[in-house]
Amino acid sequence: MGQAPVVYGQSSRPPRGDYSRAHEDYTCAQDFAAYTAQDHDTYHRLYERQSALLPGLASQAFIDVLPRLGAKERIPRFDDINEALWKATQWEIVAVPGLIPERAFFSLLANRKFPVTDWIRKPEEFEYIVEPDVFHDLFGHVPLLFNPVIADYIQRYGQGGLKAEELGHGEMLSRLYWYTIEFGLIREPQGVRAYGAGILSSSGELQYSVQSPEPRRLPLDLMRTMRTRYKIDTYQQTYFVIDSFEQLFALTEPDFTQIYEELSTLPEYGANSELLVSAD
Ligand code: PHE
Ligand code: FE
Repeated sequence: MGQAPVVYGQSSRPPRGDYSRAHEDYTCAQDFAAYTAQDHDTYHRLYERQSALLPGLASQAFIDVLPRLGAKERIPRFDDINEALWKATQWEIVAVPGLIPERAFFSLLANRKFPVTDWIRKPEEFEYIVEPDVFHDLFGHVPLLFNPVIADYIQRYGQGGLKAEELGHGEMLSRLYWYTIEFGLIREPQGVRAYGAGILSSSGELQYSVQSPEPRRLPLDLMRTMRTRYKIDTYQQTYFVIDSFEQLFALTEPDFTQIYEELSTLPEYGANSELLVSAD
């Protein structure tokens, strides 16, 4: 499972992680010395397991750039990734203690800085973790930051997030993140494939999202997507499929101000795509 940092504050649990380490913008130094041999081993085993599942299920664009993360045997140093990432797309990753508030998240993205949680799950959480850890954030999100179109899309999303917050429509925009960056599917010549980080870092949902007859797979439509609620603790019942990253970029390029206005007059869809009639 993957959780976007936008869920911060909706949870009843306080986030895990030591926030006293963080600067005002919520970034901190990667606490490399804190990793134990067991932590590196957990990363290695997660990486091995997940990368073996990718063929036929993950977007080829993702498979091609995955090796840019470097050696899989141990948790990488963020600085090492940054050398290559900066050259490729002028993005950098920054360490954070865990989930961060929306505004801080949007500001970092708007400045081409991607927040990566630095701690790793415990061995007993190998199959499932409720919050994003370094494996989800690195393996799921960072490879596609090497793709120039996705790199620009995520920056635009951050800028759009700051604006959406001002307008009081942060939640609608967060659905777009959820159904693209976290749980997006893409139509490739060989078939539908996953490019969302929440899928790519999950052993079960990777196959389910691409092959199960159960969920709906709808073409990405801006309005429909932003009208659709999501659940953070089950596999998705609805996925949105793009034709290309260029298409995603073009669809989301217009100013959303008017779109938010119109959206607020329309009923929402539940995560199962049932139309919800509002109470008022
Ligand atoms: N174009 C959107 C706006 O004006 C911002 C945005 C860009 C949102 C890319 C998502 C992705 O608000
Ligand atoms: Fe995520």
